[in-house]
Amino acid sequence: MLSDDVKTVFQDKFGSAADRVFFAPGRINLIGEHTDYNGGHVFPCAISLGIYAAYGPRNDNKVRMYSQNIPDQGIVEFDLDNLDYDKSLGWGNFPKGMIAQIIKEGHKPNHGFDLAFDGNLPDGAGLSSSAAIELLTAEVLNDVFEFNIDELDLVKDGQKVENNFIGVNSGIMDQFAIGMGHKNKAVLLDVNTMKYEYVPVELGNRVIVIMFTNKHRELADSKYNERRSECEQALAKLQTKLPIKSLAQLSETEFDENTYLINDETLIKRARHAVFENQRTLQAKDALVKGDLATFGRLINASHVSLHYDYEVTGKELDTLAETAWKQDGVIGARMTGAGFGGCAIAIVDRNKVNEFKKNVGEVYEKTIGYKADFFVAEISDGPKEIK
Ligand code: GLA
Repeated sequence: MLSDDVKTVFQDKFGSAADRVFFAPGRINLIGEHTDYNGGHVFPCAISLGIYAAYGPRNDNKVRMYSQNIPDQGIVEFDLDNLDYDKSLGWGNFPKGMIAQIIKEGHKPNHGFDLAFDGNLPDGAGLSSSAAIELLTAEVLNDVFEFNIDELDLVKDGQKVENNFIGVNSGIMDQFAIGMGHKNKAVLLDVNTMKYEYVPVELGNRVIVIMFTNKHRELADSKYNERRSECEQALAKLQTKLPIKSLAQLSETEFDENTYLINDETLIKRARHAVFENQRTLQAKDALVKGDLATFGRLINASHVSLHYDYEVTGKELDTLAETAWKQDGVIGARMTGAGFGGCAIAIVDRNKVNEFKKNVGEVYEKTIGYKADFFVAEISDGPKEIK
């Protein structure tokens, strides 16, 4: 079991037994992609793939951390009194940023600690390994030092770490999906108001298959910030005439009638995705609630098409997975999930057809791309917790 493995890793690296073990999940997004920073809706869920942390106290002010998933980096180390971003720490900046953020808000651990991480969430796969490690670190601190910080505040802290410490202008979806995760439920979040609603994911005899392109990427070096800035430029042009605060305030018709204000092919495409995707997300949630899975699946496909042609964040790997999935027996919908540019796609597949699905899609992928894709059946799980 991974919760035992992480204890062994701790013992090996730090030479003593771990005190406590914690877990945080990754996430998939059913639909509502690149809508969070446009004031729209997202519809993600936490998954059982995630990251474990083994914790042990120290009697000095140091923090030492080791990740079994990134062993080349070795043990990273810093002092609780010196929490600046340090490029050489690599992945270590995500937990370090979270510690810095929590201290900034007035909650300072009164001693240092060691942390060993191990998980089955592929890194750079678009399943939010960075948000998972941020909220996992937050969970450790909040529990061990009894800070009693509200989960929603930790979620917001995670976004601040990405925006101000790491330098990715991401929205709040990933941290929210992980922090507020609920077994067998997706959460519809209105990012504009931060109101949210849990929706049971009832797919009958179908399961969600996660398809990993094995194309790793980091948001910091992707076109993520560029897309966000294109949406902001489109919004600024619309605001010359329209009293709106975000793209997601527009209906499809309102958007169409006002594209003359944008009058730029690229910016129209980016903004059109944001507006239509937000509406699709609401329709998809209604379809899921009604049990109209055929409509739900078609909306998922439409999301991918829009992310491909209008938002241009899919790429050959994700397109191959989604397009091949659409052609398989027993599939009601498939799309990329997360930021894009590599990472993962999801498909909703008849439980009895999963093996055939993996085989067929896997073969086409390998033939087209030149290396293998990985497939996992997603289980929808709870948010961060201590493993007792
Ligand atoms: C990344 C970001 C999220 C969101 C998605 C795209 O996962 O961290 O905030 O913008 O991309 O929907």
